[in-house]
Amino acid sequence: MTQEKLQQIKARALGEIGKAADQNQLQNLEIKYLGRKGELTGVLRTIGELPQEERGRMGNFANQVKQEITAAIGRAREVLGGKSGGLEKEWIDVTASKSKRSLGHLHPISNIQYKLEEIFSSMGFMVLDGPELESDYYNFEALNIPSWHPARDMQDTFYVEPAYRQAGEENLLMRTHTSPMQVRTMEKYGAPVKAIVPGRCFRNEATDARHEHTLYQMEGFMIDKNISFANLKAVLEVVAKKLYGEETKVRLRPKFYPFVEPGVNGEVTCFLCKGAGCRVCKKTGWLEIFGAGMIHPDVLRAGGIDPARWSGFAFGFGLMRLVMLKYGIDDIRLFCGGDLRFLNQF
Ligand code: PHE
Repeated sequence: MTQEKLQQIKARALGEIGKAADQNQLQNLEIKYLGRKGELTGVLRTIGELPQEERGRMGNFANQVKQEITAAIGRAREVLGGKSGGLEKEWIDVTASKSKRSLGHLHPISNIQYKLEEIFSSMGFMVLDGPELESDYYNFEALNIPSWHPARDMQDTFYVEPAYRQAGEENLLMRTHTSPMQVRTMEKYGAPVKAIVPGRCFRNEATDARHEHTLYQMEGFMIDKNISFANLKAVLEVVAKKLYGEETKVRLRPKFYPFVEPGVNGEVTCFLCKGAGCRVCKKTGWLEIFGAGMIHPDVLRAGGIDPARWSGFAFGFGLMRLVMLKYGIDDIRLFCGGDLRFLNQF
């Protein structure tokens, strides 16, 4: 009976040892058969209980089985060498070529934004950030656009429903331009001050190739003693030349914005045809790229600055427009559309 059992254990043990794939498995087998609570050990223990005449013979046989199993484990250990299961799975072939991952790149709007930040920083302008969820006051009222003003029609936006406001809380809306940062900056820093404010703006548009609900602008302003229109033109000329080349000229034509007086529409000579007229500039030779003007005295006052002592200019670039002109992009909706076939071209 015991001999049969020993035979079975031996056959099973040798079979499993032969199949062991690594040192870990071998060690488990050693514990399973030869360990203190192992199968063979259990049988060996019962041998003492056998009748005297069988004890010697069975003892010998059991020891022989134990030696065979021990030897088999020893041989397998050598064959498997350094294969140790856990480590084996973590093994790395440092010479293997890895799959190529693309690193990605900046969005074309970020590129133009960083370039402008560099140009203006070099002229001593601070780069500021403002809230996208803005109050009606900073976005409109403080900029001379009261609730009844027709200029609001051109900048319809997304409003926070009164039902979601607590008593006494301001009217909130998604800012329609970066201009609200004019008064916020005046309140915080006073005069003199020079800053640019790149950022995301929103409008309630029926979107088409030229209108988008989400747009990027860059505001800029400079307030100091005796700042005049000449300073405005000089600064924008430097920027236009850095962006489009030394021969670039700037043209300013009157345009109404409630928060500047006088207000202008800023154009630069077309970088493609150099003013001769082409498809990019629609045969005019000029590209309209910013709005600007002298900051209205009411706006300075709203910011706590005395217009009798200080004056300043302000301008706003449409960053998407700059990129569209540069690359001949004919649909503004491509910028936020997330289509990689579009983005991968930059
Ligand atoms: N905020 C204006 C717009 O969004 C642009 C502008 C900025 C015009 C500063 C004049 C001065 O259209």
